[in-house]
Amino acid sequence: MGIKEEKYILAMDQGTTSSRAIIFDHKGRSMASAQKEFKQYYPKPGWIEHDPQEIWYTQVSVAAEAIAKMGISESALAAIGITNQRETTILWDKQTGKPVYNAIVWQDRRTSNYCDTLKERGIQQKVREKTGLVIDAYFSATKIKWILDNVEGVRERAEAGHILFGTVDSWLIWKFTNGKKHVTDVTNASRTLLYNINTLEWDMELLEVFDIPESILPEVCSSSEVYGYAESLGHVPIAGVAGDQQAALFGQLCTEKGMVKNTYGTGCFLVMNTGSKPVPSQNNLLSTIAWKIGDRVDYAIEGSVFVGGAVVQWIRDGLHLIKDSAEIERLARTVDDNGGVYFVPALTGLGAPHWDQYARGMMIGLTRGTTAGHIARAALESICFQSLDLIKAMEADTELKPKELRVDGGAVVNNLLIQFQSDIVDFPVVRPETLETTALGVAQLAGLAVGYWESIDELKENWRTETVFESKLASEKQSYLYRKWTKALERCKEWADD
Ligand code: G3P
Repeated sequence: MGIKEEKYILAMDQGTTSSRAIIFDHKGRSMASAQKEFKQYYPKPGWIEHDPQEIWYTQVSVAAEAIAKMGISESALAAIGITNQRETTILWDKQTGKPVYNAIVWQDRRTSNYCDTLKERGIQQKVREKTGLVIDAYFSATKIKWILDNVEGVRERAEAGHILFGTVDSWLIWKFTNGKKHVTDVTNASRTLLYNINTLEWDMELLEVFDIPESILPEVCSSSEVYGYAESLGHVPIAGVAGDQQAALFGQLCTEKGMVKNTYGTGCFLVMNTGSKPVPSQNNLLSTIAWKIGDRVDYAIEGSVFVGGAVVQWIRDGLHLIKDSAEIERLARTVDDNGGVYFVPALTGLGAPHWDQYARGMMIGLTRGTTAGHIARAALESICFQSLDLIKAMEADTELKPKELRVDGGAVVNNLLIQFQSDIVDFPVVRPETLETTALGVAQLAGLAVGYWESIDELKENWRTETVFESKLASEKQSYLYRKWTKALERCKEWADD
């Protein structure tokens, strides 16, 4: 057995609802894992927070648990990779290491009004050109400003150089290295609204716009290098960092221009590799950094659907049509097609590319013959139609037609869903053997940095297809279904009057 076969990579996946740890072997197989959920705080409507200390404790404890489950010692780890919920914002005291406020989570909308006032100043275009993003409460900048302005004494302490800011990756590395390293990677920096994705620097003009002192910002590194050593975990090098959607893109080995992945979770995140140059979106998508390895930067274009798998939860918990999410497929298979029913799950408005916060959910096409099966089917189809809307926007922005769509996330075990996705996008949808692509992606970034894997070509040998779903629908039928979907979608826009 060679040295590489005896060693493993530990991936930490710090997500929105849980912290996870997965150990991968040299063939990219998941060998052991552990997961812990943590508390979500909702102090006011639209506000969502996490306790940064709980993020840290749960992450350390699942790492220890995975190592123990596998029965190895820390010395068997060649490297650690960290992937994380993006945009979530933490500020802490440099001296005491204590957070000055809870983590403000990416979903938190408390700064929406402030974003509206910024938009009125007409700086949207400039912000988009520099960051690839839109002015929105989603990203870190306005969350940082909120903490600086609303937590007593923090702005003064920040200006005196006593406060640090980080996204979750940055916080975890700072904790693991006992405060020695205050760093982040380009993918996480590119979600702050403060990082210029063209020059690869923090943007002084934007720091001024958001009134944020430069001294609180972490040093921005590549996505694959040794950032420091995990002191509490056997001094193992932390060698890979990427935001979770970018990590999934890398885990799916979408390393060539035009390759695209879709992660089906609560929402859906579609990301396409656009090669070595950022592609500014004309269709309301986000332009972002995919990763930086060595000197090479890959860019991506991204769109997200707010309600993806969450529509199944609603059918379970709101309508009580099923007891368990997995039952949705069986229920949808009780009918041959949607029976003319279209369900637009704009339960929290519409995300990219429509961006309509006043849209609301709608079912249309109901008749006396409509059954629960039709509703289940229309719900699953809605996930696919929304993803198709994003793919069409990506094609328009990039002038690239994907050859296939690589899929991951909890919902992709549903064969009916994935078959319909292929039917409607009209190209193959590929489900890989390893569905843990987010963790795998960052493990690969870490492994490349320490020579555990030599190259992306070597990684390709580890990526194995489980099933290819080919489109089976005639093109007239596809166009008909999509036309009806679009008609339904238009009817649900701008419905809410709050
Ligand atoms: O942009 C938010 C995204 O990174 C969150 O991902 O998987 O933690 O919900 P997840």
